[in-house]
Amino acid sequence: MGLFGRRKKYNEQRQIIIDTSSHHAGMYGYTRLKDNLLYINSDGAHKVIQVESAMSHEGKTSVCANLAVSLGLTEKKVVVMDLDLRRPRMHRLFTKEKDGGIAEYMKGELTVEDIIKHTEYENVDLITRGAEIYNPSLVFVSEKFKGLIEGLKEKYDFILLDCAPIMQTSDYIHVGKISDGVLYLVAYGSTTRSQVNDAVKELKKNNIPILGTVFTMYDRKKDGYYGYYGKYYDEIYTDDRKKARKKSRETEEEGEE
Ligand SMILES: Nc1ncnc2c1ncn2[C@@H]1O[C@H](COP(=O)(O)OP(=O)(O)OP(=O)(O)O)[C@@H](O)[C@H]1O
Ligand SMILES: [Mg+2]
Repeated sequence: MGLFGRRKKYNEQRQIIIDTSSHHAGMYGYTRLKDNLLYINSDGAHKVIQVESAMSHEGKTSVCANLAVSLGLTEKKVVVMDLDLRRPRMHRLFTKEKDGGIAEYMKGELTVEDIIKHTEYENVDLITRGAEIYNPSLVFVSEKFKGLIEGLKEKYDFILLDCAPIMQTSDYIHVGKISDGVLYLVAYGSTTRSQVNDAVKELKKNNIPILGTVFTMYDRKKDGYYGYYGKYYDEIYTDDRKKARKKSRETEEEGEE
């Protein structure tokens, strides 16, 4: 679904590269990814996207932020939620304060309107973590949190969830219950095939559909990588997308009764 190269001169201060006035090489990848997601969500039933990878440092936060900006430019209303509750970092990419987010909403100190932060990017809002949350899984399973997501669905075309890595916590299981599917990232050269296999098995075991896969930090000089893994991923996500569409058709039919 997407392929993003490793940038040699990676600018930690400027990780959002989408800009209508520039022609950065990565722009094409985001346009493609955005178009795929628009297609998948053309029925409006796949708007809550869980951005995942097996390990840390595979590019989830960067891809999530850039994808949001790319979708925003096509007039889609997007909210990015920092659900990496142990190591939140999304606020830095959007140069926003971390304070005043999910933690305060959960405690009843702030309302939904209070925690939505408008970013400098058109149509892109952000919800940060706020104060430290000691037991993330309790947040994810709570009715209050589920209500927050349901409310956001009314307001936005896409809700992008920046998550913790699958192999490091079990958060993905809880988040998988509120998302419409996973955008699964694999970092070129660092994640092993068995780590990817294990993570994908976990998602399957928990009936969390993979809507698409993205390769990050791809090194063009080392050819053949996509050939090695590519067929395998195509099979995984084509299969899962079929399942997701079937699930959404069934839900529609149930609703009609
Ligand atoms: N295309 C890229 N080329 C080079 N470096 C990158 C690229 N994308 C992200 N990085 C860098 O790699 C590191 C990991 O990126 P990012 O934080 O987006 O990954 P992550 O999967 O969200 O990590 P974590 O699981 O720790 O939250 C960061 O230091 C980021 O600056
Ligand atoms: Mg991250």
